[in-house]
Amino acid sequence: MNPVQSPLKAKNAEASNTPRETITLTDNRTGKTYEIPITHGTIHATDLRQIKVDAAEFGMISYDPAYNNTASCTSRITFIDGDAGILRYRGYPIEELAEKSTYLETAYLLLHGELPTRTQLDDWIWHVTHHTFIHESIKKFLDGFHYDAHPMGMMISTIAALSTFYPEAKRIFDPESRKKQTWRLIGKMPTLAAFAYRHSLGMPFAYPDNDLSYPGNFLNMLFRTTELKYRPNPTLERALDVLFILHADHEQNCSTSIIRGVGSSHADPYSATAAATAALYGPLHGGANEEVLRMLTEIGSVQKVPEYIKRVKAGEVRLMGFGHRVYKNYDPRARIIKNVAYEVFELMGKNPLLEIALECERIALADDYFVKRKLYPNVDFYTGLIYQSMGFPTTMFPVLFAIPRTSGWIAQWEEMLLDSEQKIARPRQIYLGQPTRAYLPIDERG
Ligand code: ACO
Repeated sequence: MNPVQSPLKAKNAEASNTPRETITLTDNRTGKTYEIPITHGTIHATDLRQIKVDAAEFGMISYDPAYNNTASCTSRITFIDGDAGILRYRGYPIEELAEKSTYLETAYLLLHGELPTRTQLDDWIWHVTHHTFIHESIKKFLDGFHYDAHPMGMMISTIAALSTFYPEAKRIFDPESRKKQTWRLIGKMPTLAAFAYRHSLGMPFAYPDNDLSYPGNFLNMLFRTTELKYRPNPTLERALDVLFILHADHEQNCSTSIIRGVGSSHADPYSATAAATAALYGPLHGGANEEVLRMLTEIGSVQKVPEYIKRVKAGEVRLMGFGHRVYKNYDPRARIIKNVAYEVFELMGKNPLLEIALECERIALADDYFVKRKLYPNVDFYTGLIYQSMGFPTTMFPVLFAIPRTSGWIAQWEEMLLDSEQKIARPRQIYLGQPTRAYLPIDERG
């Protein structure tokens, strides 16, 4: 921040009629004026520190619980315009990627910044595919869980456990090590997920098949029984791949902020990914798809939708799968997912909960409560219906989110590590607790 401009300089700027990229703040407590530079439409929070009543003070800080209006980083990975309902990875519209790309190609794009050449793609797929196996000791780990353990709990623990198998992952500033951990993480997530699922059924684990695509192999590890060679249904394989593309990244959401935060202490990428997975588990984030299915089941019939909407408007319950911190328009991913849903239903039969979901959407989009608050269906509103039709139990829904989000998490983690402006994440607080007081021995307390 510069001290206030001299009147002469200001006059010259006025005369030249060039708007200055600054903002002028007046502290009414002191009458002092401060001119703060604006970069990319943003002011730097530390520029506020110069605002003080007396010199000994710490200086002004900004208060922003839940980061409603705070940019924590610069990023070149994902762009969202929440008002216009736009989502782009590295500049490519999500609609085009969902139509033309594959998940692994999209993951490469997120991580490397450019779409791969044929050779680069083949090499990338080879490496990810050849890192799908997990150490046999991880299986012993999984065996320790109850049959009804939530698969997200199993995922969080086993992802964290991977760090103990690959201690070289601590070398986070070694690009070769980062590359290898990235192959491993993206390769092993579907294996951990499928093994967690098979454990809950009491079924033997099905090992990865390197001949299959990323989503095809995942379906193999989940659903293979006695067949010598599992052949995934191409419609389901593609549907899963599209869902993976749509979930690959979403800029500074809750779990991504967590991986950046944990990674900022220079923890290894497995520990940081486990933390991000834990953040995703919550029902307000990646756990919402599970909650949507529970809600639709609870509503039970199309006739009961208005009654449920009444409860939402009275503040008794939330319409799960609706609303978003950033989108104040239809989530572009929800639009694509709705189309995928119809393709899956054509093959597997219509999910009976679809009519209830459509009625919720129809009523909500026309109701003043939702219109005024700009609440639209988000990515989670229709995914659960697809996953259920594909044969997944509800507890697996957040896991299906965590698998593809790993590429976005790692891209964001690496961007944070290589950003010279970043340091250990450490926000400040406004202390409103007790002032200093003397310790009272226990017998003297009231
Ligand atoms: N149902 C009913 N009312 C809602 C909903 C909802 N789903 N979402 C927001 N509102 C209302 C709030 O009550 C609030 O109303 P008020 O102004 O009268 O108090 C207003 O809309 C703004 O809501 P906030 O909670 O302040 O919005 P915020 O940006 O903090 O929350 C969130 C976003 C968490 C996604 C919220 O919309 C929500 O809880 N949705 C349901 C859960 C969900 O679907 N989560 C998945 C999000 S997508 C993802 O993470 C992958």
